[in-house]
Amino acid sequence: MKFLLILSFVTLSVSAGFLVRRDVQTIQTVIQGIGTKLTKLDASIKAFDGKDFNTLATDALGLSDMLKQGTQKIQASQPITINEALTLQQTLAPIQDQGNTLVADIVAKKPTFEAAGLCDVIGSQTKDFGATAQALVDATVSKLPAAIQGIAQGQVGTFTASFDQTAAAFAPGNCTNAVAAQATGSNATASALSKM
Ligand SMILES: *[C@@H]1O[C@H](CO)[C@@H](O)[C@H](O)[C@H]1NC(C)=O
Ligand SMILES: *[C@@H]1O[C@H](CO)[C@@H](O)[C@H](O)[C@H]1NC(C)=O
Repeated sequence: MKFLLILSFVTLSVSAGFLVRRDVQTIQTVIQGIGTKLTKLDASIKAFDGKDFNTLATDALGLSDMLKQGTQKIQASQPITINEALTLQQTLAPIQDQGNTLVADIVAKKPTFEAAGLCDVIGSQTKDFGATAQALVDATVSKLPAAIQGIAQGQVGTFTASFDQTAAAFAPGNCTNAVAAQATGSNATASALSKM
């Protein structure tokens, strides 16, 4: 989410004087929608006890769908001006925090994911978030004035890196599924321990 932070600084440093047009509202609505899905997924990550994977999967899909739909909506919108980009500042601030919180909470939950045999699932899902979020960032950057685009594009790597780093934490060697986890499901930890 560092990209969004940088973008916020850029937009902050530009002087105001504007009317909010429909295309800015499209981006705002998309970002707010993503914020809601980030918060929802974060709550179910925190609540995950190794058993009810359905809620987690549903909320992960919700975020993924929102990122993809949002990308399409932004792609279909018109370019915005520097002054209009300024109006996105307030919208962008919370989503940075929500994204950072989500990434931190996913990593904090790793022992539970390991016990439930979900290393691969979480790793590939996080990678997917990185890819779909980058597509959304690319679409948004393409609607910004050229003066901001250069700076914004330079930060895209940093933005997606936080997802990639999180995915790496769940890669083989960094995340170890409990031995019998995939076979036995909810009682995975106890089963794995009994075989040691
Ligand atoms: C495991 O984590 C380390 C440190 O975070 C990282 O450098 C490494 O690339 C990760 N391994 C894989 C296979 O991604
Ligand atoms: C979990 O596994 C342990 C050891 O195999 C067993 O004693 C216990 O009854 C199991 N618990 C449940 C809820 O299946």
